[in-house]
Amino acid sequence: MTSPHAESFRDLLERRLSRRAVVRGAAGLAVLAATPLRATPRSAPPLAFKPIAPSRADTVIVPEGYRADVVLRWGDALFAGTESIDPETVAAGALLAPDAAAHQARQVGASCDGIGFFALADDRAIVCVNHETPEPDAMFPGWSEARQSRLLREFAAANSQCVRYMQASVGVSIAEIEWAGRWRLRADSPFNRRITAHTPMQLAGPAARHALFGARPGGAPVTIDGTFNNCAGGTTPWGTYLTAEENTDDFFGNLEQAALAPELARAYQRFGARRRDSVYRWEAADPRFDVARTPGEPLKFGWIVEIDPRDAAQPIKKRTALGRFKHEGATTTLAHDGRVAAYMGDDEAFEYFYKFVTAERFDPEQPERNRDLLDSGTLYVAKFFADGTGEWLPLVWHEHAALTPEGGFDSQGDVVVRCREAADAVGATPLDRPEDVAVNPLNGRAYLSCTMNPQRTDAATARAHADASSPRSPNPSGHVIELIEDGDDAAATRFRWEVFVLAGDPNAGLLTALPRTEGLPLPPDATYYAGFADAAELSGFANPDNLGFDRYGNLWIVTDGAQPNGNNNGCFACPTTGEWRGAARQLMSGPIGAEICGCEITPDGRTIFLSVQHPGAGGSAAAPRSHWPDGGAAAPRDGLIAIYPEDAARKLGS
Ligand code: FEO
Ligand code: CA
Ligand code: CA
Repeated sequence: MTSPHAESFRDLLERRLSRRAVVRGAAGLAVLAATPLRATPRSAPPLAFKPIAPSRADTVIVPEGYRADVVLRWGDALFAGTESIDPETVAAGALLAPDAAAHQARQVGASCDGIGFFALADDRAIVCVNHETPEPDAMFPGWSEARQSRLLREFAAANSQCVRYMQASVGVSIAEIEWAGRWRLRADSPFNRRITAHTPMQLAGPAARHALFGARPGGAPVTIDGTFNNCAGGTTPWGTYLTAEENTDDFFGNLEQAALAPELARAYQRFGARRRDSVYRWEAADPRFDVARTPGEPLKFGWIVEIDPRDAAQPIKKRTALGRFKHEGATTTLAHDGRVAAYMGDDEAFEYFYKFVTAERFDPEQPERNRDLLDSGTLYVAKFFADGTGEWLPLVWHEHAALTPEGGFDSQGDVVVRCREAADAVGATPLDRPEDVAVNPLNGRAYLSCTMNPQRTDAATARAHADASSPRSPNPSGHVIELIEDGDDAAATRFRWEVFVLAGDPNAGLLTALPRTEGLPLPPDATYYAGFADAAELSGFANPDNLGFDRYGNLWIVTDGAQPNGNNNGCFACPTTGEWRGAARQLMSGPIGAEICGCEITPDGRTIFLSVQHPGAGGSAAAPRSHWPDGGAAAPRDGLIAIYPEDAARKLGS
């Protein structure tokens, strides 16, 4: 059946396309008419689960034959002798108590995001869970009300315990979990740790002794207080966890009042601090977050941070060789010669896609030799060409005329600190909020999610103009790019690519081929699911964020944003090869207001761990919009959930 929406889509598309491009069909652009151009595949779908219907309910929904268990919740005690949060008391101001921050530093943090899974035995594992942003609206009665009346700075100054609480709520939780018919926390495990905005860590790599940090040449590495805005991340082949510092500029205020040295002013041009109030107002109670008083502090954030989850004695290190930007995550894979590649998105509109390749090889026999592998290697940034090829441009001091003292870069330390500026200078391709990356274990193809970009335009001259790699104008629903390295080698410097999914409601306007030049930009409601033509067989989604792969080569996608028809965010699985390539199926729907993060599948293929982040977003501590997961009148809580087939012999994706 043809909806009025689909009619307007086709009218718009036909206006934008030349007649020649339409009749060229697959070589140009094939528009889906009322009858699909490609019939539903004859084979059975490779994903055996029956997709769920999208939902607006305040609960987690999974298909028949699957279970979803809550494993960790914000405020669960990680240590024996510590109390857990009572979610019934949050609305009454329990987290404003003077000792609440000290408890939070021994409990699971808030705003659960990226996940790392490290097996200890068949039935035991360590999980690392990132805690991205503080959630003061949900934590403290009075915060939302003060924000609405523009009195937030006064509220934070008068309630400084709020700031201490938020500083304890971010960072990373490290927890041992065990399988006992379901995954559950071991509250007394020696592996349990909290990393917060105050945990000591070091700078490592080419910027570790940069004068901007007050270091002396040959002196000790710079030490740093903590990590925050830990978004997604990754794991390494040698068993460490990578946590990614993303929107750290949101935490620093008063930039416009700071008397900055010229080098600092330059470093903050592309990624710095808030001009006046920070988002969380920490500067009202802690001078470290007031750039006018501590001008160099923001530079210590915006890095990939490496943590050994099995050994708390190992120093936590910020790996500056991987560049300073709004790191969504770092997805590692092995190149043919054993070097390690890490793919990384810089999650802001019109930012770039990066890859780091280590100088040395991974040594599986001598784990200690891998300990500082991420300190030396080559950082690249991606350039996408309209013909479907691409190039990794090295961000290496003196390898480009712009990356020299004449170009304003005095060292590789300068290049990594001002990474965005270096990427601008070499001509990288600006993307639509490049976020997470997943690599298909069967063929090495990499998939990059671009969540959305309402500012993408059809202006021909602006940096913002739509092109083949960001084909929609504006781009409200995001897309996924598939990247094939030359020789299928993660260390290659050239690649081929195509848009794999142009997300959104397939019932509004489903294409079976995408143009690379003629016919661009596509309208905002154009969608494409890798050429799959039967909208009725698809679970449409929007705003892809974190990605994962199962052992069968199915891409798993979780979402962060407005879903078709106002439904809640969820988790989707999508074959990447064969007749069903692109046929996404919905595995899970989250509660009201939550985005879904994580997407970590266990090595045995049996469980997928997801984070349910900020359930009830848009509400307040006094008036919650969600009561997940505790129900009743409880405050909503972020959580780590495990989804698995009830039949223990079945694997996800089979
Ligand atoms: Fe933290 Fe890019 O989402
Ligand atoms: Ca994210
Ligand atoms: Ca997100």
